[in-house]
Amino acid sequence: MSFRTQPPAPARLNRCQLFGPGSRPAIFEKMAQSAADVINLDLEDSVAPDDKPQARRNIIEASHNIDWGNKYLSVRINGLDTPFWYRDVVELLEEGSERIDQIMIPKVGCAADVYAVDALVTAIEAAKGRKKRISLEVIIESAAGIAHVEEIAASSPRLQAMSLGAADFAASMGMATTGIGGTQENYYMLHAGVKHWSDPWHWAQAAIVAACRTHGILPVDGPFGDFSDDEGFRAQALRSATLGMVGKWAIHPKQVALANEVFTPSDAAVAEAREILAAMEKAKAEGAGATVYKGRLVDIASIRQAEVIVRQAEMAKV
Ligand code: COA
Ligand code: MG
Repeated sequence: MSFRTQPPAPARLNRCQLFGPGSRPAIFEKMAQSAADVINLDLEDSVAPDDKPQARRNIIEASHNIDWGNKYLSVRINGLDTPFWYRDVVELLEEGSERIDQIMIPKVGCAADVYAVDALVTAIEAAKGRKKRISLEVIIESAAGIAHVEEIAASSPRLQAMSLGAADFAASMGMATTGIGGTQENYYMLHAGVKHWSDPWHWAQAAIVAACRTHGILPVDGPFGDFSDDEGFRAQALRSATLGMVGKWAIHPKQVALANEVFTPSDAAVAEAREILAAMEKAKAEGAGATVYKGRLVDIASIRQAEVIVRQAEMAKV
């Protein structure tokens, strides 16, 4: 064990991030009324190039006029390979209200991408006397992004969350799929003539979780494109939660409840976690470091596992 203790991730709920195009202000109010923990107003790929200036105006106006309640309000800017991103940041932070919490940087490929946005944000905050310190989140959605995932996770004290963007990731990796997340028809093992489907996103997700946990960042699963497939969404989200991710995007409002359900620990899971903690308290009082709970070993590591579940449940209660 390293003597460096693992930093905690930001203590806020991030079970669902609901996206909506900045060019479609008619849905902003509905987004604000949704049950998502995080709102992502988009300036990037859901907005056509000619609509970018108006989308910025819409978002600036919505930051002043819409009651976003207790939602974490994030704006996805354009990638650093476009001519749009600097104006996104400048206009948002010069004219947008202090209600904006976070900027999402897509297609991050190296730590310097985050550094560049951090430098610009820092200068504008100082020049404008903004009081709220803007946080950053990034999307890992390229071969470079996943190859440099650990340096990206360590890139800025402003960084709070990191998502896997399955569609652009698949394109950048040259993956033979047009699906956005979920089971891929051709990714199977054959055993005794029977197909067993495996998870092509697993490696990237696990790499993101490890980088995030090392540096105290929230690991998030990105979009699931087929919003008519609730069971497919649930299966993908359950896998992500099992791997340590804290939430998932919704690209349609019907996915919000599904994400909240998966990323809020169930009453049964919380009850079991509390029982494990109680069993370990008793064991400790008796001078033992391990004991038996429902026929299985629990030890000091089980305390840490159970505490993860109890902490998540406690955040979700408020
Ligand atoms: N947030 C909140 N409400 C939304 C919404 C969203 N992202 N998308 C649609 N709605 C609303 C609609 O206005 C409609 O409301 P109504 O019942 O009051 O009329 C209701 O939800 C049902 O919408 P539906 O007709 O099923 O969808 P749509 O055709 O209007 O929109 C999408 C479908 C996919 C185009 C739209 O959901 C969308 O733009 N999603 C986000 C895309 C995005 O941001 N992508 C970037 C990240 S990958
Ligand atoms: Mg993308």
